[in-house]
Amino acid sequence: MPNILILGGTGYLGQAVSQALLRSGNHSVWGTVRPGSTSQSKARTLSLNEITPVIGDATDPAWLAKTIADHRIDVVIDITQAYDKAGVILDAVISAARNRAEVLAKEQAVGPKLGYIYTSGSWVHGSPGLGVGRKVGDLTVPGTSLAPAKPATAVAWRPAHEQAVLAAREVLDVAVVRPGAIYGRASWVWGTFWSPLLAASKDADNNANEVQIPADAGARIGTVHVDDLAEAYVRVVDRVHGLLGSWPVFDVTSEVLLVPDIVQAAAKVLGVEKKRIVYAGTGGNPFLEALSLVVNTDSARARCVLGWEAKRRGFVLNLGVFVEAWRAAQAQGE
Ligand SMILES: NC(=O)c1ccc[n+]([C@@H]2O[C@H](COP(=O)([O-])OP(=O)(O)OC[C@H]3O[C@@H](n4cnc5c(N)ncnc54)[C@H](OP(=O)(O)O)[C@@H]3O)[C@@H](O)[C@H]2O)c1
Repeated sequence: MPNILILGGTGYLGQAVSQALLRSGNHSVWGTVRPGSTSQSKARTLSLNEITPVIGDATDPAWLAKTIADHRIDVVIDITQAYDKAGVILDAVISAARNRAEVLAKEQAVGPKLGYIYTSGSWVHGSPGLGVGRKVGDLTVPGTSLAPAKPATAVAWRPAHEQAVLAAREVLDVAVVRPGAIYGRASWVWGTFWSPLLAASKDADNNANEVQIPADAGARIGTVHVDDLAEAYVRVVDRVHGLLGSWPVFDVTSEVLLVPDIVQAAAKVLGVEKKRIVYAGTGGNPFLEALSLVVNTDSARARCVLGWEAKRRGFVLNLGVFVEAWRAAQAQGE
C-alpha cells in the first residue's frame, strides 16, 4: 500500500490525482496545504475526501524532508505551481532519499528508492508548426537543438528542470508527466477564452456586436480531461519503481483541437454565436502566447508503456457540459 504525498494537494489537478489514487484501492494519500488564512478550510476539504492534510510550506526543504520521513512516504508527486521553487523541492526530496538510504546503509540494509513524479506540461514543446505527419512526442527532448521548436516563453525554464529531475535517477525513481491543457469540472485555464464570451452574454444592452478573444486565430491546443489525466498518474505511480523503462517521460494529451473551434462552440453554449469573434492576438503576454501555440503533440508512449487510453473524448462536441461546470465553479468562487 504505497504512501503518496501530493505537493499541491489543494489544487485542481492535485485533488483529481488524489481521488484517482484512492479509487485504485492501492494507495494512501497525503496532500500539502499552504499555511494561511484558508488553510484550515482547505485541510478540512482534503480530510472530507479521505486525503490526509499536511499543513506546511512544500518549498521549505527541512519541512518537506521531515514530512516525507514522518509519514513514511514512498512516492512524492509535485503538482504545485511553485515554479520558482521547483529546484528547491527537488533538492529536498533528494535529501529525504539520501537520509533514508543512509539509515538503511548503517543497518547494512538496502531498500527501495523514493519515487518522485514531476508535473511539467506540453507547452515545453512550443509550436512545431502546421506541417502534417510531424508529431512531437515525449521522445523529443525540449530545450535542446534536437527539438523542432523552442518552449513557450512562459515555461522556458521547465526543460532544464525536467533534466534535473531525470538526472536525479541515481537516488530517486523518477518520472515526468506533461499534461496538455486540462478540461473538466473546475478547470481554470479555459477562462481565458470563455470569460469574454460570458461577459458578452451578460451584456443586457447588447452593445457590442463583436467579442475579442485574446488568442491567435491559428492556435492549436492539446487537451485532456482531468479524469483521464489522473488515471495516467495512477499508472505512472504504479510503475515508477522500475517499470517505466529508460525514458520515464510521458506527454498526456487526448485531442489536439483548433482554438477557434473551442471558442465557436463556447459562443453557442453561451448564446453569443451571432456576435463577430475577433482574435485579438496575445499582445506579448507569455501565458496567452502559450495558449496560442500551434501544437502537434502525441501520447503514443503513454498508451504503449502505461497502457493508458483516454476515455473522455469529444471536448468540443460536449462543450456545453464543460462550460457549465466552469461557469458553476466561477459562481462558487465569487
Ligand atoms: N491546469 C492545466 O491546464 C495544466 C496543464 C498542464 C500542466 N499543468 C501543471 O499542473 C500543475 C498544477 O496545476 P493546476 O491547474 O492544478 O493549478 P492550481 O489549481 O492552481 O493548483 C496549484 C497548487 O499548487 C499550490 N501552490 C501554488 N504556489 C505554490 C507555492 N509557491 N508553494 C507551494 N505550493 C504552491 C497551490 O496551493 P494553494 O491551494 O495554497 O494555492 C495548489 O495546491 C502546475 O505545475 C501546472 O503547470 C496544468
